[in-house]
Amino acid sequence: MPVFFQHQINENTRLGVWKIEESEAFFKGNVPLHRHVTHPHKRLQHLAGRFLLQFLFPDFPYELVQIADTNKPYLPAEQYHFSISHCGDYAAAIVSRDKRVGIDVELTTNKIVKIKDKYLSQEEQHLFTTELLTTDYHLLTLLWSAKESVFKWYGQGNVDFKKHIRLLNHQEGKETLDCFFSKNEAELTIHYRWYDDLVLSWIIN
Ligand SMILES: CC(C)(COP(=O)(O)OP(=O)(O)OC[C@H]1O[C@@H](n2cnc3c(N)ncnc32)[C@H](O)[C@@H]1OP(=O)(O)O)[C@@H](O)C(=O)NCCC(=O)NCCS
Repeated sequence: MPVFFQHQINENTRLGVWKIEESEAFFKGNVPLHRHVTHPHKRLQHLAGRFLLQFLFPDFPYELVQIADTNKPYLPAEQYHFSISHCGDYAAAIVSRDKRVGIDVELTTNKIVKIKDKYLSQEEQHLFTTELLTTDYHLLTLLWSAKESVFKWYGQGNVDFKKHIRLLNHQEGKETLDCFFSKNEAELTIHYRWYDDLVLSWIIN
């Protein structure tokens, strides 16, 4: 059962997470065009991410995908906006007919504790203080994933995670984080879901 999670967000936007259990041959048979990736597992992740695009929207035009200088894949005529992420044996994609999107999946790791000062400002660390124990690597992974999804949504690179992405409010009941992205003055809502030690974050705006 390779579809791990599927979500029809609205009539124009769909999201899917794939648990990779197939061989490379399965994906290659279903993804006509793909870039060369040397490492076998990374190649599998890349293929699974691409596979999801047509899985979500069967008319997704693979052959028109271009890669920007920032490495962001895109469709020049923007028939669809899309974003892809992979981690471990999971690949995730979000595809929208009308909105810019960003997605990220991460498996929790306690290594994140050591780098928290690199992506969270002092203000954010204070803001999340009541729940942010220095060893709470689940929450730290969520905050990292949230910022990665903003980076993907923006897509133009040159983002300083501490300076440009300000996490404002964590609404656990709604499974959202509010955020202000100063590069284009956007107020964003980051959605997330936990599946044991896997966190999925996404933005539609
Ligand atoms: C490019 C980056 C987003 C990739 O993230 P990652 O965790 O290695 O990998 P993910 O699996 O989540 O995402 C990879 C996918 O993102 C997409 N992608 C790559 N560059 C992108 C960009 N600039 N914008 C949007 N999407 C991008 C691609 O679809 C890629 O998969 P594919 O090549 O198989 O199609 C990430 O490495 C990065 O540069 N993040 C910013 C880091 C940073 O600035 N940190 C500073 C604070 S410490």
